Amino acid sequence: MLSNRIRNNKLLDKVCTAKEAAMLIKDGMKIGTSGFTPSGYPKAVPLALAELAKKNKEKIEISLYTGASVGDELDGALARADIIGKRLPYQTNESLRDHTNAGKCEFLDMHLSHVPHYAKLGFLGKIDIAIIEAIAITKEGHIIPSTSIGTSPTYVEMADKVIIEINTSQPLELEGMADIYTPRNPPYTKPIPIIMPNDRIGTEYIPCGIDKIAAIVVTDIKDNVRPLAPTDALSQKISANLIDFLKGEVQKGRLTNELLPLQSGVGSVANAVLAGLNTTDFENLVCYTEVIQDSMLELLDTGKVLFASGTSITPSAEGLEKFKKDIKDYKDKIILRPQEISNHPEIIRRLGVIAINTAIEVDIYGNVNSTNIMGSRIMNGIGGSGDFTRNAYVSIFTTASTAKNGEISSIVPMVSHHDHTEHDVMVIVTEQGVADLRGLSPKERAESIINNCAHPDFRPILLDYFNRAKKGKYKHTPHILKEALSWHDSFLERGSMRVK
Ligand code: COA
Repeated sequence: MLSNRIRNNKLLDKVCTAKEAAMLIKDGMKIGTSGFTPSGYPKAVPLALAELAKKNKEKIEISLYTGASVGDELDGALARADIIGKRLPYQTNESLRDHTNAGKCEFLDMHLSHVPHYAKLGFLGKIDIAIIEAIAITKEGHIIPSTSIGTSPTYVEMADKVIIEINTSQPLELEGMADIYTPRNPPYTKPIPIIMPNDRIGTEYIPCGIDKIAAIVVTDIKDNVRPLAPTDALSQKISANLIDFLKGEVQKGRLTNELLPLQSGVGSVANAVLAGLNTTDFENLVCYTEVIQDSMLELLDTGKVLFASGTSITPSAEGLEKFKKDIKDYKDKIILRPQEISNHPEIIRRLGVIAINTAIEVDIYGNVNSTNIMGSRIMNGIGGSGDFTRNAYVSIFTTASTAKNGEISSIVPMVSHHDHTEHDVMVIVTEQGVADLRGLSPKERAESIINNCAHPDFRPILLDYFNRAKKGKYKHTPHILKEALSWHDSFLERGSMRVK
């Protein structure tokens, strides 16, 4: 049965327990793993490492580099065992988030397209070990990845040794979905030959070779995928407003009914936004995105979307079972690429991607905070939102106009942390309406955002702030700095941004 998965008998000698593999990991090492938005990440070896650390007296502290977020067996278990000293580039795990916010772990929040680039050019130091989840290893010792590609090809290339987790819960039928292409470093980088989102340009496996493989662990632990909140009235309203905006673009002749390749961010609102496309007249859609989640699979099922290119498949537990059952139908409709390619600025700009991402808060001039609650508390990270936003044909941010039961306005005078600047953000959509910022000056943007996107309960105080700021000496981007910088204090001090 294993011969399907480990296709060279010589490699059988390298099969070992998770504990034996974990013992290869030493204090101070830099470990690069597979995994992207809890999908296709190693599970058995990190769980064994956490156990070892608990039993051993000696402290182990590693730098953990992944593609993006990974499941609790990796981020959670290692954070709780105090093993992660440094972490990049994105995470969604509660234990790790708490560790980071408590100052126990240094977290680098990076554009996901930068990660392979940094790793290849040595900006992240020497990678000691790569741990990669796979469905199989070829005769030549190359790795057939499972449900995500992320930065795995680069970690394998740069690491001294590779540990492979063969996960038998991941279907062998995934073979053929991956398309692995790694650009050469400057000055030898060539144009990436993707002209259409469904172009295949690489290999179906991650090049590795027998000699580099230090250990193989066989496991059947399933991906710990995140549940999606049910689509509620609010996210449906955001979705409807976004779709109206896109329809308007078609009416104005800027887009056709086939739109342009779509990218959609993570989370429940993003999922609802995509689901809304099913009820529209748009047709023959394609996606050039990062994460393929439930609603994108549904759009592929109904034929609304013809094809999706991404770097990971991350449905809910239910969606994952359906995906596995119908995997043959998806085979020629999905390509999984390294994040260096799925998020590559050159391709995003050339294909004319419509980028739809989520903001935590937006300021009246169109700057967006996607990462830090109240300026200092990391939520997840920028992920690929910057890669897409900066280079998109049209970059859209969605958010509910209020948070924390209506006590916080998501539209504020000045964002408490900057991720996407006024220069990159083109359209804001809330349940209240749409602000199309293209071609608008800062003051015009402020009027549009306050009047179209802010919640009516907060509109008067935002307008009052803006009108008073305009009376100041400098008229280009009017601010009353003392007030703008202390705006969030009202929530921190008394639990509400509402006027007393
Ligand atoms: N002020 C303070 N807190 C806020 C807030 C605001 N304006 N807006 C939201 N929050 C809080 C929520 O209350 C919630 O807090 P909780 O965890 O204590 O319940 C938390 O932030 C998350 O909000 P929620 O509405 O549940 O978020 P979501 O699941 O829709 O995700 C992002 C929103 C922004 C966190 C998420 O999309 C993200 O991480 N984006 C950045 C990465 C990205 O875009 N990747 C995709 C690229 S392909």
